[in-house]
Amino acid sequence: MNPATKHVGSPVSRVDGPAKVTGAAIYAADFALPDLAHAALVHATIPHGRIVAIDTREAEACPGVLASMTHENTRRLPWHPRDPRPGVDPKAGERLHVLQGPEVLYDGQPVAMVVAQTLEEARAAAARIRVSYEESPARTVFDPAQGRAPSEASAEAGRPGETSRGDPEGALAAAAVSVDATYVQPREHHAAIEPHATVAAWEDGRLTLYDKSQWVGNVRKEIAHVFGMEEDAIRVVSPFVGGAFGSALRTWPHVTLAALAAEKVGRPVRLALDRRALFTNAGFRPLTHSRVALGATADGRLEAIVQEATGQTSSYEEYAETVLDPARKLYLCANVGTRYRLVDMHVNTPCPMRGPGAVTGELFLEMAMDELAHALGMDPLELRLKNYANEDPDSGRPWSSKALDECYRRAAERFGWAERPREAADRRVGREIMGFGMASALYPAHASKAKARVTLYANGAALIEAATSDMGPGTYTALSQVAADALCLPIEQIRVEIGDSSLPSAPAHGGSITMTTLGLAVADACRRLRENLGAAENGGDLVARLHETRRDAVEALGESAPSEGSETHASAAFGAVFVEVRVDPELGQVRVARIVGAYDVGRVVNPKLARSQCIGGMVQGIGMALLEEARFDERLGRVTNASLSDYLVPVCADIGTLDAFFVESDDRIFSPLGVKGLAEVALCGVSAAIANAVFDATGLRIRTLPITPERIVMAEVERGRARVRQGS
Ligand code: MOS
Repeated sequence: MNPATKHVGSPVSRVDGPAKVTGAAIYAADFALPDLAHAALVHATIPHGRIVAIDTREAEACPGVLASMTHENTRRLPWHPRDPRPGVDPKAGERLHVLQGPEVLYDGQPVAMVVAQTLEEARAAAARIRVSYEESPARTVFDPAQGRAPSEASAEAGRPGETSRGDPEGALAAAAVSVDATYVQPREHHAAIEPHATVAAWEDGRLTLYDKSQWVGNVRKEIAHVFGMEEDAIRVVSPFVGGAFGSALRTWPHVTLAALAAEKVGRPVRLALDRRALFTNAGFRPLTHSRVALGATADGRLEAIVQEATGQTSSYEEYAETVLDPARKLYLCANVGTRYRLVDMHVNTPCPMRGPGAVTGELFLEMAMDELAHALGMDPLELRLKNYANEDPDSGRPWSSKALDECYRRAAERFGWAERPREAADRRVGREIMGFGMASALYPAHASKAKARVTLYANGAALIEAATSDMGPGTYTALSQVAADALCLPIEQIRVEIGDSSLPSAPAHGGSITMTTLGLAVADACRRLRENLGAAENGGDLVARLHETRRDAVEALGESAPSEGSETHASAAFGAVFVEVRVDPELGQVRVARIVGAYDVGRVVNPKLARSQCIGGMVQGIGMALLEEARFDERLGRVTNASLSDYLVPVCADIGTLDAFFVESDDRIFSPLGVKGLAEVALCGVSAAIANAVFDATGLRIRTLPITPERIVMAEVERGRARVRQGS
């Protein structure tokens, strides 16, 4: 076996697994600094207006209270603008200036804070702060008719209001067969188990933040801008992240609050958001409505794709998503038109959530493709194959690699798609009816710049350092694998230190870019270390070489940048998802019996972790299809199910057989490591495939997610009424 690929490609178990299961892994709120004080927040109870009075006297008299903070006694911070804005922030509008004025822009906005000796004392006192408001008319109703075009800044960032290729409307009108429907994806929350939390500590004008973060470098920069400080005076530490899915990409207001609190009381302060506060103090996947109209020839060739989407954003920032990219990229079609609109509401600002844009867009598009297949009397898989795009239809560039056809073929075979029962009698299992659905998945591959440092010690140990995070996919493990191969060392001798802004800079740990950037930077650092030692390009005993040079240690800094191929080619991860559901038509209950997914993500660094990513995506897709929905009371402007008992996510009992496997494409055009990125693609298409399977079982098109028992029963009732009206 070539030693250079001994670990990469192997199902190495998580190197941080023992630390996680024994509790040795330290998360943001776990940093128990000496003399730690605790903060609790008070949240606005109106969606729009201003604070006219705020009475903190009773709170201040409570035991253990060190300080209470409101807009009346909090110092004004500079909030310097960021230029350019970080990629994870909205492109227009201005971030929430917390505790800087009396304005209330959404229900749940932090309006006061208490710092006390203990968490219980802080919470008890916070409950005694009395806030009086003057309410203003609030936009709490999502009306797509009120949608406006995105700003120029959003358009420039790839979220244009309109795009058109060919003659979409003309082709749609002329098409032999067409479908045209509107779909709804609700507001969804990341619902990670670890809450957002920050421990802030000042010492001699220097600030250390222990924070839940997918991008420590950005937290440092943001807080430097908010406080008007030098970046060098701030350190952000985030060694472990207990799930994030995009919610920890931005720097949310509570980080500023924690720093303000610690400054005020002259002690380190912990501010951990409670579950309810997570729904309004961090972002969410925005409620989005979409019309999809597809036109095809009688034999199923796509003639027109028209997709319009309207998403919600806040009143103070414009968060826009690439919902319509899949319409332009997924299938071969000469006539494609998209239209994107935003509705400004008195809610907190949405943010990326796993597969932002693509997951939403593909939910709608892939449900519509299923409707088209049905209208054509064609197999849904055959319709996808018929419209397969051998190059990126959007840019006209060749794909750096694309094995989606193999994904379709092999997943269909493994699933038994061709043999699935079609006759009603064969699909009845007791009370339940079997249904089968499928969908395509595409998530664009991204690359960015990163740095990493490697140090080899005379005792044979090597240290890898970079400022990236690990929110769960296995950064510690995958970087260890890359380094072990590049240094020809046993993986046990590699130690990885990440999640600290004082380490070599890394981009956001998001967008499925960590291996395409950090993996490459680590490989580059190892290559340079070999050079420093005057060692051969491959193999050889580097430790022996180090001894020969009579040094205790040698280090090297490596870096990575997007490949030349990423300029000349289009790149994406692909997948094909097949689902079997069982529907109880009387109870309206849907069970997902099994999911088979085949994925082309380039080279697979670690099949064990990669499979784990994919079945995790399937579980999240089940949640999206059947359970997840933030309920928004339009009168109050409030999320009413802001808890994990009411905001439903799948539990083990909801999960059937999950089967994920890989069709490797080893994409050396996109990345010298061969990888295209894996995380987001695992959620793409899953919810659409489930919805399509529900239709297959019941003949009901539930176009508003989640597909709850109530919605199935109501759709059944509607169908019965329609039959009566038609006299059939
Ligand atoms: Mo992902 S939404 O980039 O964490």
